[in-house]
Amino acid sequence: MISPDSTACAYRAQLLYFVADPATLEDPSQAVRYHSDGLLLVNAQGRIDACADYAELAGKLPASVPVTHLPGKLIMPGLIDTHLHFPQTDIIASPASGLLPWLETYTFPAEGRFGDSDHAREVAGVFLDELLRNGTTTALVYGSVHPQSVDAFFQESHSRNVRMIAGKVMMDRHCPDYLQDTAESGARESEDLIRRWHGKGRQLYALTPRFAPTSTPAQLAACGELARAYPDVFVQTHVAENKDEIQWVSELFPHNRSYLDVYDSVGLLRPRAIFGHSIWLDETDRARMRDTGSVAAHCPTSNLFLASGLFDFQAMRQSGVHHTLATDVGGGTSFSMLRTMNEAHKVARLGGCHLTATSMFYLATEGAARALDMQGQIGTLAPGAEADFIIVDPAATPLMARRSSQLDSLEEQLFVLAMLGDDRNISASYSAGRCVHRRAA
Ligand code: GUN
Ligand code: ZN
Repeated sequence: MISPDSTACAYRAQLLYFVADPATLEDPSQAVRYHSDGLLLVNAQGRIDACADYAELAGKLPASVPVTHLPGKLIMPGLIDTHLHFPQTDIIASPASGLLPWLETYTFPAEGRFGDSDHAREVAGVFLDELLRNGTTTALVYGSVHPQSVDAFFQESHSRNVRMIAGKVMMDRHCPDYLQDTAESGARESEDLIRRWHGKGRQLYALTPRFAPTSTPAQLAACGELARAYPDVFVQTHVAENKDEIQWVSELFPHNRSYLDVYDSVGLLRPRAIFGHSIWLDETDRARMRDTGSVAAHCPTSNLFLASGLFDFQAMRQSGVHHTLATDVGGGTSFSMLRTMNEAHKVARLGGCHLTATSMFYLATEGAARALDMQGQIGTLAPGAEADFIIVDPAATPLMARRSSQLDSLEEQLFVLAMLGDDRNISASYSAGRCVHRRAA
């Protein structure tokens, strides 16, 4: 008999999580743990106590543990979005002819408002609600250049007890005056934020040099020093997204072999360093990313919307670089990781790679946790993990109900979800065992 504490809860539904990367296995089904009639037991500390077949576990539970029965629903780990910008919430779906005009026309003016803490806090609340409505329970988030934007963000995420990773943008040139820090102030404010927030509750910090064109070599060097001084702090930036951007970087940094090398030369390639986009890399770049344990965050909705290019899935896989999926809101056009999978699949197809649904759900859960060096903590339903999970309704729309009644395999069920799904499929999101979103009936 299991003896759970007095406020333990149990959920009976289909259960799904991953224990390996399906793309690396001869039999990808070995990567999956799936219970068609499962029971998930969550303890009062907000962790998973057990995850097994209902028939095996139910008899061992005391009658005092409430069991929520969810017939037809699928429980999986909360989704992980590895790159997006909270100050861009209100400019999502703003058209432009490419990345650089989009930044100038919409992004910088919008980010300029985040020196106002009240505005930052209001938008952070909307942003977090939107993530949770879409089943995303952990995200790697850019603030604006203002440290108070990140204080506001963490205050909101801390009060919801969700596991978020965020940082203040560092940007000391080639941007409007009202968004500019200096090498010294950017480093000092980032270090202050690390001390205030990194490891406070479930909050984690990410050093956030925006991208090479908006940082002087002095700022990048200062960021590299912080990355060495705080090895468990994350690093996030953009690399090799757009051809005009790359041309600009080659003019600004003529002595570096490549765009990625600008970051490499100051020590920013390392575990827990996440590089948004990573489209226009070569084999040498990919080998450096692999050898340093760096991560490429693929942002398909953004890359198609801004016509930046097609992420090379095949090459990333073959060179063994950690890679993840991300929305890149507001360059990305959806908060939904399901919509993101839809476009990731199509981008991979154009590159000659069949990206299975099993692989995509792995990348958005266990794969992201591994890439972020957080395996066993998030992205899984394995016992001991933080109880961040979502209840998915595979039949949320009439079309999906019809399509879902004619399935042959788990891969097919997940594929339909990835191709047709969005926030309507997320019945509820749980963070550390507590319901943080429930979809209205
Ligand atoms: N490169 C530098 N800043 C940004 C940004 O905010 N969004 C995207 N997509 N690319 C960037
Ligand atoms: Zn971005």
